[in-house]
Amino acid sequence: MEKQKIHYSELGLANTKEMFAKAMAGKYAIPAYNFNNLEQLQAIVTACIETSSPVIIQVSKGARSYANETMLRFMAMGAVQMVREAGSTIPICLHLDHGDSFELCKSCIDSGFSSVMIDGSHLPFEENVALAKKVVEYAHQFDVSVEAELGVLAGIEDEVSAEHSTYTKPEEVEEFVKKTGVDSLAISIGTSHGAFKFKAGQPVPPLRFDILEECEKRIPGFPIVLHGASSVVQEYVELINQYGGNLAGAVGISEDQLRRAAASAVCKINIDSDGRLAVTAKVREYLAKDPKEFDPRKYLGEARKELVKLVKHKNETVLGSAGRA
Ligand code: G3H
Ligand code: 13P
Ligand code: ZN
Repeated sequence: MEKQKIHYSELGLANTKEMFAKAMAGKYAIPAYNFNNLEQLQAIVTACIETSSPVIIQVSKGARSYANETMLRFMAMGAVQMVREAGSTIPICLHLDHGDSFELCKSCIDSGFSSVMIDGSHLPFEENVALAKKVVEYAHQFDVSVEAELGVLAGIEDEVSAEHSTYTKPEEVEEFVKKTGVDSLAISIGTSHGAFKFKAGQPVPPLRFDILEECEKRIPGFPIVLHGASSVVQEYVELINQYGGNLAGAVGISEDQLRRAAASAVCKINIDSDGRLAVTAKVREYLAKDPKEFDPRKYLGEARKELVKLVKHKNETVLGSAGRA
């Protein structure tokens, strides 16, 4: 049976076009937060209402199978409704993170996503171009935005794993953007996914802003995306380790470097791990301090409160998206 087609505008969602144009002109970045469950989504939108920030809520293939794709879509619709009922008009984009096939992107587009990423970064250049172009041709009929990636981040890219990063080659970006017609491009300049971005005990290498600047020169005014941009907040790492966890050596990207990136052509910054750390830290702390508690609303409520704090901090002092809705 053919799935029912829903256009994102019917759900009160926005694509990334206007968001990125404003972010480029205003020298800030749009936050893209991953969610998998109700508490994460509530926290993200609450913080974005309170900071008056545009927001991209994004789901991975893993999130879709964890939470059920229909349930996730209805959660996103519920979040839009909750925002509007609170009297807020912040733009909200629903984005597929690290789509790994045309079929997955199409399925998201057909069910109301306003933006998709097709991640062909592990493919040879021409294959990456062909795949991205195919997604663009389908997506643009419905005004859905498309993000692609050139260069490979170290760590785990959803189910695509890369042991070592391959920095983006600036000499390829212009041809890629022209041939594919994508709306934004994720590049690899030294960020990576997860909580262990650099080798423990070794000096943390700075991000390759020289590569970013070279890319900007070749595609002036074109929106660039930074994946793997969690700071791996040390306060959370310490709480997790204090209350029975073991995340020794977890380290991320400094806020200063993210501020510098946000002021450049980087228009979208992806954050997932910091949210996971905040939730895990607060759940561990709560249960360790009150071992008799077994009502999930108690410990998940604490986690949600912390996540609101974290997202507000990111919007206000790192990405600069607060007050830009
Ligand atoms: O970049 C990957 C995101 O953090 C999503 O992670 O595939 O575990 O949901 P996931
Ligand atoms: P982090 O693991 O650094 O949060 O990166 C998330 C991301 O890039 C999602 O696509
Ligand atoms: Zn990513």
